Amino acid sequence: MALMSLCLSLGLIFLDLEWRSKSVDAIPSYQSICKLVHKAVDCNGRKLSSVPNNLPTNIEELFMDANFVRTLRNGTTQQYANLWRLSLQGNNLEFIESGAFSGNKKLKVLSLQDNSIFVNYLMTANALQSLPALKKLDLSGNYLTEEMAGILFQNLSSLESLSLTRNFIMRLDSTIFENLVQLQELSLEKNYIYEIEEEAFENLRRLQRLNLAYNHIPCIVNFDLTKLEVLNASYNNIEWFLTKDSNANFELETLDLSHNQLLFFPLLPKHNKLRSLLLSDNEMNFYANALNATTSKEGLVKFIFISNNVTNVTSVNLWEDVILGDLSSLEFLDMSKNLLQYLPSGFLVSMTSLSHLKLNQNCFQIINLNNRELPATLVELDLSQNQLVELQVDPYSGSILPNLHFFNLSTNRLKRMPSQFFIHLDSITTVDLSHNQLNLCPQQSKGMDRICIDFRNVISVRHLYLAGCDLESVSDHAFRGTSLVKLDLSSNKRALLRGMRPLQDIALSLQYLSLRKTGLSNSAKADFSKFQNLLALDLSDNSLTSFPSTLSSLTLHSLDLRRNHISFFPQFMVHHRLGKSLHIIYLSQNPYDCCKLDWLNSLQELRTVHIADRQQITCKFSSKTVSVMELPKSVTQSCLWITTDMTLLYLVLILPTSLTLLVAFIILVLNVKQRLFKIVKSRWRRSNRY
Ligand SMILES: *[C@@H]1O[C@H](CO)[C@@H](O)[C@H](O)[C@H]1NC(C)=O
Ligand SMILES: *[C@@H]1O[C@H](CO)[C@@H](O)[C@H](O)[C@H]1NC(C)=O
Ligand SMILES: *[C@@H]1O[C@H](CO)[C@@H](O)[C@H](O)[C@H]1NC(C)=O
Ligand SMILES: *[C@@H]1O[C@H](CO)[C@@H](O)[C@H](O)[C@H]1NC(C)=O
Ligand SMILES: *[C@@H]1O[C@H](CO)[C@@H](O)[C@H](O)[C@H]1NC(C)=O
Ligand SMILES: *[C@@H]1O[C@H](CO)[C@@H](O)[C@H](O)[C@H]1NC(C)=O
Ligand SMILES: *[C@@H]1O[C@H](CO)[C@@H](O)[C@H](O)[C@H]1NC(C)=O
Repeated sequence: MALMSLCLSLGLIFLDLEWRSKSVDAIPSYQSICKLVHKAVDCNGRKLSSVPNNLPTNIEELFMDANFVRTLRNGTTQQYANLWRLSLQGNNLEFIESGAFSGNKKLKVLSLQDNSIFVNYLMTANALQSLPALKKLDLSGNYLTEEMAGILFQNLSSLESLSLTRNFIMRLDSTIFENLVQLQELSLEKNYIYEIEEEAFENLRRLQRLNLAYNHIPCIVNFDLTKLEVLNASYNNIEWFLTKDSNANFELETLDLSHNQLLFFPLLPKHNKLRSLLLSDNEMNFYANALNATTSKEGLVKFIFISNNVTNVTSVNLWEDVILGDLSSLEFLDMSKNLLQYLPSGFLVSMTSLSHLKLNQNCFQIINLNNRELPATLVELDLSQNQLVELQVDPYSGSILPNLHFFNLSTNRLKRMPSQFFIHLDSITTVDLSHNQLNLCPQQSKGMDRICIDFRNVISVRHLYLAGCDLESVSDHAFRGTSLVKLDLSSNKRALLRGMRPLQDIALSLQYLSLRKTGLSNSAKADFSKFQNLLALDLSDNSLTSFPSTLSSLTLHSLDLRRNHISFFPQFMVHHRLGKSLHIIYLSQNPYDCCKLDWLNSLQELRTVHIADRQQITCKFSSKTVSVMELPKSVTQSCLWITTDMTLLYLVLILPTSLTLLVAFIILVLNVKQRLFKIVKSRWRRSNRY
C-alpha cells in the first residue's frame, strides 16, 4: 500500500512537470527563454518547437539554433520585417511553407545547416524565391542531391555566398548554378563529386572562392575560371591539373591541390597572381632527367575534350620540365610529401617573391643552394626527411640566402657539405640538423667518415636542434661566439661524456635545454649552477640516481625528470628558488620509495606547480610497484610499521641486554654487599672480643 501511494505521488509530480514545461512552450514569454542583446535575439538550445511570436518586432537578428523547429509555417516570422539574419541550424527542420518568409524582404543571411531540407525541398525552393535580398545561404548537411540543389537555387540571383558542404552531390552540370550570377563564394566540400561539366561554373562570373575539398574529382582540365582567387581542391583523386591554354589574366592567388594524386607539377595559368601554391601529399616528380624525354615523342600527352559534339585535342609535353607559368608573385610553395628527386635547373630562382619553401618528405639526394638556384627572398626552407647526402654550395660565394631564418635539414644522411656553411647565412636563427650522423667542429678525435659542422661565431643562430646525431664528445668551445637560446642535444649518448663544460660558452644565454637520453648520471658532471637564465630543462631518459642539487638555485618554469633512477627528492628543493619558479614538472617512471613520499606532498601543497604526469607516478614497496595516487592502505600501514617498528626493534634488541646487565649489576651489588657485611660482621665480632 505504501509503495503504491509513493508511485502515485511520483506520477503526479511528473505529470505536473510535464504540464509546466508544455505551458512554457505554448506561451513563450521571450524574456525568460531568449536573450535580447541590442536588436539580436538569442534563443539557441531552448527546446523550442516554434519561433516565438512575441519578440520585439524591430529585431534584426534571430538565432534559433539547436531547437526542435521541424516546420516553419506561413507568417511565423512575418512581424519581424527588419530581420536580416535568421539562423535555424540543427533543428531537424523538414518543412518550410512557401510563404514562410513572405514578410522578410530584408533577410540577407539564412543559416539552415544540419536540418532535413531534402524532405520538402520543392516547398523550400518556393519559400526561398520570396527573399529578394538574400546574400548568404548555408545548406550544409541537408542530404541534398544535385537535382534538389538545382531546383533550390533556380532563381536566387542575389546570392553572394552559398555553402553546400556535407551533402550528396555527385555531378555538377551546366544548369545547377546557372542563375547565381552574383555568387562570389561557393563551398562544395565533403560531397561525392566525381564529375564537373565544363560549363558548370560558366555563369558564375563573379566567383572568387571555390571549395571542392573532400570529393572524388579525378582531374581538372581546361581550367578557365579567370576571376577565381581561391581554389581549394584538396583531398580529391586529382591526377592532372591543366589550365586552358590562353593568355588571359587569371586572378588566382591561392591554389590548394594537396592530398591528391598529382603525377606532374600542375599546368598553371601563364598569367596569374599566385601567392600560395599547396601541392603536398601527391605523387609528383620531374622526369626529364630520368628519361631524357624532352626530345622524344613519348612525353607528348594528348587530351581529348568532347563538348557539344566538338572534339578538340590538346597536346601537352609533360616530360618537359619547364611548363610553368609565371610564378613571380608566389610566396608560399609546399611540395612536401611527394616523390621529387630533383628540381629542374632555374625552377625556383624564377619565383622571385618566394619566402617559404617546403620540400620535406621527398626523395632528394643532392640539393644545390647556390644563388643561381634559389631566390634570395627565401625565409624558410624545409628539407627534412629526404635522403640528402650532399648540400652543394658555391665555394666562392660570400653570403648565401641572406634572408633565410629557418632551415630544417633533420632526418637526412648528410655526408658532404661545407663545415663553415652556416656562417654564410647572415639571418639564420633556427637550424634543425637532428637525425643526421655528424660531429661539431672542432672535432675531438679525427678520422671517421662523418662531416663536422662548425657553429662557432654563427652569431645569428638562436635555436639549434641536434637530437639523435650520434655526436662524439663535444669539445669545450664548440658553441663559442653564439648566443643560443634553445639547444636540443637529446639522444646523443656520448656528447656530454666529460660533463657540462661544452655548454659553458652559452650557459648564460640558454633558456631551453634538452638533454634527454644523453647518458647523464649523478656526479659533479651534471652541474647546472651556471645556467642562471634557463627556463625549461629536459633531463628525462637518463641515469640520474638522485636529484641534481645544483638545480635548486635555478628559476626553471618546466622540468622533466621522467625515466631516471631517482628514489626520492630532498625537501629543500621545494622551498628553494626552484620551488617558487616552477610551473610544470614531469616525474613519472622513477623508482621512488613508497615510504618516503613526504616531498611529493610538499610539492603538491605548493599549488603553483602542476605535476603533469601525476597519475602515472609510481613508487616501489619491497618488490612491488604501485601507483602513488592510489597507494593501497596495506602499503601505508606497512610503511608506518616500518618507521614505528624501528623504535620497537631497538627496544626489543636493547631490552634483554639491559635486563642481563641489570641482573648482573644486582648480583654484583649483592655480592659486594655480602662481602661488606661479612667484613663488618667479622670486624664487629673482633671488636666484640674486646
Ligand atoms: C502559405 O503561403 C503561400 C504563399 O503565400 C500559399 O501559396 C500557401 O497556400 C500558404 N500555405 C498555407 C498552409 O496556408
Ligand atoms: C524562377 O523564375 C522563373 C521566371 O521568373 C519562374 O518561371 C520559375 O517558376 C521560378 N522558379 C521557381 C523554383 O520558383
Ligand atoms: C582547403 O580545405 C581543407 C579542408 O577543409 C582545409 O584543411 C585547407 O586548409 C583548405 N586550404 C586553404 C588554402 O584554405
Ligand atoms: C639526352 O639527349 C641528348 C640529346 O638528344 C643526348 O646528347 C644525351 O646524351 C642524352 N642523355 C641521356 C642520359 O640519355
Ligand atoms: C555532330 O556532328 C556531325 C558532323 O560533324 C553531324 O553530322 C551530327 O549531326 C552532329 N550531331 C549532333 C547531335 O549535333
Ligand atoms: C578547339 O581548339 C581550337 C584551337 O586550339 C580552339 O580555337 C577552339 O576554341 C577549341 N574548341 C573547343 C570547343 O574547345
Ligand atoms: C623539422 O622537421 C621535422 C620533420 O619534418 C620536424 O619533426 C621538426 O619539428 C622540424 N623542426 C623544427 C625546428 O620545426
